[in-house]
Amino acid sequence: MDFENTVRKRRSIRKFTDQIFPEEQLMKAFELAVLAPNSSNIQTWDFHWVKSPEKKAKLVEACLSQSAARTASHLIVATADSSNWKRSQNPLIQWVRSVSAPKQVIAYYEKVVPFSYRSGFFNLLAPFKWIIFNSVGLFRPMMRKPVTARDIQEVAIKSCALACENFVLSITSLGGATCMMEGFDEVRVKRLLKLGRSSRVVMVIAVGYEGERGTWGPQFRLPLNEVVHQH
Ligand SMILES: Cc1cc2nc3c(=O)[nH]c(=O)nc-3n(C[C@H](O)[C@H](O)[C@H](O)COP(=O)(O)O)c2cc1C
Repeated sequence: MDFENTVRKRRSIRKFTDQIFPEEQLMKAFELAVLAPNSSNIQTWDFHWVKSPEKKAKLVEACLSQSAARTASHLIVATADSSNWKRSQNPLIQWVRSVSAPKQVIAYYEKVVPFSYRSGFFNLLAPFKWIIFNSVGLFRPMMRKPVTARDIQEVAIKSCALACENFVLSITSLGGATCMMEGFDEVRVKRLLKLGRSSRVVMVIAVGYEGERGTWGPQFRLPLNEVVHQH
């Protein structure tokens, strides 16, 4: 399917058929999901494919028993964890060295990333970071964030959401259907998957084949002239 058709065909499907979406195709979609652009290539995302029937039933309940969750072949929990920078740091340093990247890039992963991705216990480092960023910002353009733990989570969440979009478009191009869901109880989802404190559940993605009356109607969007602003 060409790109425009895939984008136009993707809809949020609330009712799937009983036909199971093939696992190999799901793996293909994961492969394409992680090719999404992401902040500093730190890949702070994780995808939890909930396969055990008992866990899946609990996850459906945590998704407020929405019909997309109830009828899906597969449920994927996409999470963002800013502390995952530690998982990527060494492989990234080795990779930038192996491609003979400029010294600054190596220094970026060795020094800037650990500084950016830390806010200290109870955000103790945040005031210092805020003063540094905003003082420098008085004299030249300067990134003012991330400062607090929440800012750092925001960075991780943005990247994870981009991977989720790659994922749903990939499923669509493979003939399947999806529904991204933020209607869930995050506390219950985190407990179910034993996720750490710094992990955020970005969305749960239902995957399957579109059932009858899978959407509420044609796609609705505001006109472009209301959302595209030329300056
Ligand atoms: C982050 C996010 C969370 C969403 N959460 C839900 C949800 O919990 N339940 C649901 O039925 N649809 C959910 N949707 C789907 C939106 O309602 C849907 O994308 C929107 O109505 C536009 O319809 P379309 O996707 O068919 O173009 C979510 C979409 C996004 C991007």
